[in-house]
Amino acid sequence: MQKEKILVLDFGGQYNELIARRVRELSVYCEVHPYNMSLNKIKEYNPKGIIFTGGPNSCYAKDAPTIDKKIFELNIPILGICYGSQLMANLLGGTVSKAKISEYGKTEINIIGESKLFDDCHRQTIVWMSHTDYISKAPEGFQVTAFSNDCPVAAMEKDNLYAVQFHPEVMHTVEGMLMLKNFVTLICGCHGEWQMSDFVKNSVKELKEKIKDGKVLCALSGGVDSSVAAILLSKAIGKQLTCVFVDHGLLRKNEAQEVEEVFGPNGPYKLNFIKVDASAEFYQKLKGVVDPEEKRKIIGKEFIRVFEREAKKIGEVDYLVQGTIYPDVIESGLGKSATIKSHHNVGGLPDVIDFKEIIEPLRLLFKDEVRKVGLELGIPEKLVYRQPFPGPGLGIRIIGEVTKEKIEILQDADYIYREELEKAGVAKNLGQYFAALTNMRSVGVMGDERTYLYAVVLRAVNTSDFMTADWAQIPFDVMDIISRRIVNEVKGINRVLYDFTSKPPATIEFE
Ligand code: XMP
Repeated sequence: MQKEKILVLDFGGQYNELIARRVRELSVYCEVHPYNMSLNKIKEYNPKGIIFTGGPNSCYAKDAPTIDKKIFELNIPILGICYGSQLMANLLGGTVSKAKISEYGKTEINIIGESKLFDDCHRQTIVWMSHTDYISKAPEGFQVTAFSNDCPVAAMEKDNLYAVQFHPEVMHTVEGMLMLKNFVTLICGCHGEWQMSDFVKNSVKELKEKIKDGKVLCALSGGVDSSVAAILLSKAIGKQLTCVFVDHGLLRKNEAQEVEEVFGPNGPYKLNFIKVDASAEFYQKLKGVVDPEEKRKIIGKEFIRVFEREAKKIGEVDYLVQGTIYPDVIESGLGKSATIKSHHNVGGLPDVIDFKEIIEPLRLLFKDEVRKVGLELGIPEKLVYRQPFPGPGLGIRIIGEVTKEKIEILQDADYIYREELEKAGVAKNLGQYFAALTNMRSVGVMGDERTYLYAVVLRAVNTSDFMTADWAQIPFDVMDIISRRIVNEVKGINRVLYDFTSKPPATIEFE
């Protein structure tokens, strides 16, 4: 177990895992736990410092999350953020009031007096506020160390208890990282010795202890998350893990072979690896289907059916591994937004496989952290930096009916497009880039022959969160090469189009 740990107690705010991630960026191990973790458990966990997160409640509200006051007597430094700061004030005898003006967004605070938390910070600095309640009176003995125009107690402290009304973890708080660093190092005394390799080491140890001689099953897609989860598990329990890779025939060119080369029996990891070529079944089911949502449902359902069939062959399993990462946890936690598309992330598997428990070894990590773990595990860069690829694959990048012929046309065009973007050095700056096949055929002329062939659409977007995206500008000379190569080399295409639409109103995929 880590010697230096920071414990984040979650009071329901939006940025909780971001706080943990920031602390990990400071090379100190950090985990988020629910606010009602018992005092005994906290003592046992033995953190060097505790952070109370923000949250949507008012600390005076009925049923508002609270905490045992004895936590302040554990002699562990505590930093309360937003709701966490108000809770600290309220429990220790200060006053929290409803603000006449809610502060939201970038705000200037004035730092007063001396505080280790603000060591090296400017006396006036921009922070991110997002609150309605505020601390109107600090508890007795607390020193106010910062204020803003609308907030008399933007920060306060006493001994090793610190509270800030703003959010140091978000990037809009200009010196937020410095403040967190001050808390973690100067106040909690951490040295910052944690590395991703420690995450790997600890996870392997914990997985070993948990699974013992149990049998584990993993649906491997070749994507970053499931690949990293599988290799982590295989490090812990070796051949007790079986990976099932369903090739639905809707993957990118050469992708099925690439996955097999890395994860198959002749690859470096020597996994217990079962590859199922189910393409014929998928093509059969997709025959005549043109509606994109229907395609998604068919592919998702078929995937589960094939997986279930293969899983049954290996007999009972104890655990099912899923490559869930933190953003998936947040997205599924919201669960209220309208269904724009039904995502296929092997979500239905738990309903059809008999097992004791799901294991999600990456559920606390962000995508870039997962990539670091992947590199740490020695997974090839090509796989680790693979761009996102939808579960239903090329099935949803072909407008109209999906046929074997159309899949091959699209695989070839997409391969050239990606190859040229990578060669030109453009790819590394793009969020996602791929080709899609329209259902439109038009007249062309090749040699002296009239052609009547498909048009392919090239798409490239810039995005940080994949919720919104801007169409990307690709130099015309690169486009020129791509367009010529596609019409010359790919049989079945005589026109190349580019998609100049952002998301919204379009989506990133072209279906
Ligand atoms: P859209 O098209 O909704 O895509 O703007 C946003 C991001 O999600 C990916 N995507 C999927 N990923 N299963 C996945 O794992 C799916 O069913 C799926 N559909 C879309 C898409 O590639 C983009 O990165």
